[in-house]
Formats: sequence, C-alpha cells, structure tokens
Amino acid sequence: MPLLEISNVVVRYGAVTAVQDFSGSVHDGDIVVVLGPNGAGKTSLLRSVVGLAPKAGGRVVFDGADVTNWRTHRISRAGIALVPEGRRIFSPLSVEDNLLIGAYARTSKRDKSQLLSDIFDRFPVLAERRHRQAGLLSGGEQQMLAFGRALMSSPKLMMMDEPSMGLAPVAVDIVMSTVQSIAASGIAVLMVEQNAAMAQELATSAIVMERGEIIESAASGKISTGVGTLSGFVDLDIPDEPARR
Ligand SMILES: Nc1ncnc2c1ncn2[C@@H]1O[C@H](COP(=O)(O)OP(=O)(O)OP(=O)(O)O)[C@@H](O)[C@H]1O
Ligand SMILES: [Mg+2]
Repeated sequence: MPLLEISNVVVRYGAVTAVQDFSGSVHDGDIVVVLGPNGAGKTSLLRSVVGLAPKAGGRVVFDGADVTNWRTHRISRAGIALVPEGRRIFSPLSVEDNLLIGAYARTSKRDKSQLLSDIFDRFPVLAERRHRQAGLLSGGEQQMLAFGRALMSSPKLMMMDEPSMGLAPVAVDIVMSTVQSIAASGIAVLMVEQNAAMAQELATSAIVMERGEIIESAASGKISTGVGTLSGFVDLDIPDEPARR
C-alpha cells in the first residue's frame, strides 16, 4: 500500500483549472519529483494534498486514512509536512522561534526541546545561528530552516516545493544532499523541482505536468543521460521550459 495515494484530484480557482485529474502515489523510501513549466499546477497539487488549495474532485489517502476533507493541521499531525515555495520563513523571528512554529502540534515542552536538539544536530549551521533573526540568514540557510521547521512535525512524508529555487550553485548542492539525507532517514519525499540536474540525481520516479495534467511519468529505474534537458528520464519527453523568474 502506498504511503500517499492521490486519485483524480482536481483543483480549480474560479474558472481556472490548475490541476486536472491528477493521480499518483508515493511509497516509503520514494523520492518522487514533479516536473513541469511555470503554471503547470505543481504548487496547487502539493497545496491541495494538505488542504491549502481547494479540491474540486478526487481523493487523497495517506497512511491508510482518507484525508481528502481533513483540515490542514490534522493532516500535518497525521504526518505530512509541506516545505512551501519561497520558503516562507518568518523573517523577524529568530531561527529557534521559526523552528518551534513547526512543532505547534506538540504540547509537551520536553517533546519540543528534544525535537529542537535533533534539528540542531542535523543542521549545525542553524544551531550556531539559533538566536539570529531568520531574515538575516543566507538563502541556503533559510532553506535549511524551512526543512528544519518541517522536520519539527516529525513527518512521514515531506513535500517540498522547489527547494533549490533562487539559490547559488553551492547552496543547491547542499539542498540536494539534505534532501537525500532526509530520505535516507526514512521520510518519503514528494518534491517539485525545475532544476533538471537535481531531479535526475535524486528521483526514484518522476512525473511531468503541463497545464494541470500529467503528460509523462516514469519510474527512474535507469535514468539515462539526456544532455541539458529534463529528458534524462527514460521515456520522458519533456517540453522546453520557458525562461523563468
Ligand atoms: N490562488 C490562486 N488563485 C487563482 N489562480 C491561481 C492561484 N494559484 C495558482 N493559480 C493559477 O493556477 C495555475 C497553476 O499555478 P501553480 O502555482 O499551481 O503552478 P506551478 O506549476 O506551481 O507554477 P510555478 O512553476 O510558477 O511555481 C496557474 O494558471 C496560476 O495562475
Ligand atoms: Mg509553483
């Protein structure tokens, strides 16, 4: 049984259909990468899974429970964390306070401080800067903070929305190895990514969306070496991406 099963999900904003009949699944141990150009519906898909974007149809089953109509906080407590597009850290707050926000579902102080010390072990740079204003961190450090905040909810599944966006190459490498280590620690990953190299290196399977629909999907199996495009995935025919941002 998959950890996450998305069936025929539709997301609409008024007259705009952002996601049309999306089905896909994530198993334990997976790193599933969703690829696609701007406006393809990738963010809407992730947000719909956790109840932040309206589902006009379809079903989401997580860890054996039908969570389709659950509120976001309940889904979070069940074990799905979303690392949002643009990181969305709280700039005026300290690193530590940003992390504690991620543990809002925990009541006991001991739980929280244990979680916090786990995060600081995993990200020494956050430990060093724990009292610093989050807005003063570099882009890469802010991404670590966004990962850390998501990990504070002890998720079984982490969804990440373009974690490498806007980062310098050296920070992108750190993000990649962090995603790998998160997956290696037993957390399944569903990641939106437009960085082709990153997607190819990490993914156990890939889904390509365009205009709200899945146009290709493939288990990575053997990922061949397409040059310069996302078409390194076997059997994937991915349209050229428009220049972005
Ligand atoms: N809150 C909203 N209200 C109305 N339309 C929206 C909203 N959010 C997204 N859309 C529209 O839905 C479609 C899909 O947007 P979405 O942000 O999900 O795409 P995306 O694949 O994440 O794009 P990007 O690569 O730019 O992040 C787009 O046409 C977008 O304009
Ligand atoms: Mg997006």
